[in-house]
Amino acid sequence: LTGPRHLLRLSSKCFSLVESTYKYEFCPFHNVTQHEQTFRWNAYSGILGIWHEWEIANYSFMGMWMRDGDSCGSRSRQAKVELTCGKRDRLAQVSEPSTCVYSLTFETPLVCHPHALLVYPVLPETLQQRWDQVEQDLVDELITPQGHAKQLRSLFEEAGYLRAHKDSDPAWLEEVSWGQAFETLESCTQAYKDLSKEVKRLQGLLTQHGICHTKAAETSSSQHLGQEAPTHGPPAQLRRDPGLHRNTL
Ligand SMILES: *[C@@H]1O[C@H](CO)[C@@H](O)[C@H](O)[C@H]1NC(C)=O
Ligand SMILES: *[C@@H]1O[C@H](CO)[C@@H](O)[C@H](O)[C@H]1NC(C)=O
Repeated sequence: LTGPRHLLRLSSKCFSLVESTYKYEFCPFHNVTQHEQTFRWNAYSGILGIWHEWEIANYSFMGMWMRDGDSCGSRSRQAKVELTCGKRDRLAQVSEPSTCVYSLTFETPLVCHPHALLVYPVLPETLQQRWDQVEQDLVDELITPQGHAKQLRSLFEEAGYLRAHKDSDPAWLEEVSWGQAFETLESCTQAYKDLSKEVKRLQGLLTQHGICHTKAAETSSSQHLGQEAPTHGPPAQLRRDPGLHRNTL
């Protein structure tokens, strides 16, 4: 079990909510299940998700991801349980914002303190020091905001709060929408054609506005290859148009 220590005591309990014909049960750090409330002998009972990882946002533990539940077509059911402040422990709400993805709200007094869900204080000291360095690197502009986010992610993975994405992980594939775009050669070819068309359109725009593009690069490279290097100053056309260097980027 990972995460804020004071929440670990929830791991020995389960909380349920009856809504219309279903009873939902949330067992923190274990699973979310759904049970049809009926006297039929074959009442449906299923798993909506099994404890997988934390949802971390804004430097805080925001919720619990329960994944790999009962199959739902080609995917499996999954549930995100958000933790919010409340007077007593209770499962307050269940909804299904998209097919087979469930959203639960769990209220508890354990998260009411403004620092109750902060990640940093919970980390082991060595990881805290690494985090300090990552923040410093961002301030010093040694890494980009994307690099910063990536390094924090791997830090959280190392701490056991997040699971490493595997290429085979269907939940991850769903998030990367272009992961499915090139399932066939045809779709790849089509995308290539579309992009080529777009490049032509943009080149047309450049020409229309009197800006050299590909030609500039060709000219300068042929000068390097074929002709003698200029002995004094840049080639004539570069001197004429001080804006030209932009187009070789
Ligand atoms: C869900 O977790 C609880 C608590 O560990 C366990 O008792 C129960 O059997 C689990 N349910 C399923 C369907 O795995
Ligand atoms: C992020 O956390 C800070 C401090 O904990 C809080 O004041 C702020 O409202 C949070 N922002 C969001 C978008 O949750």
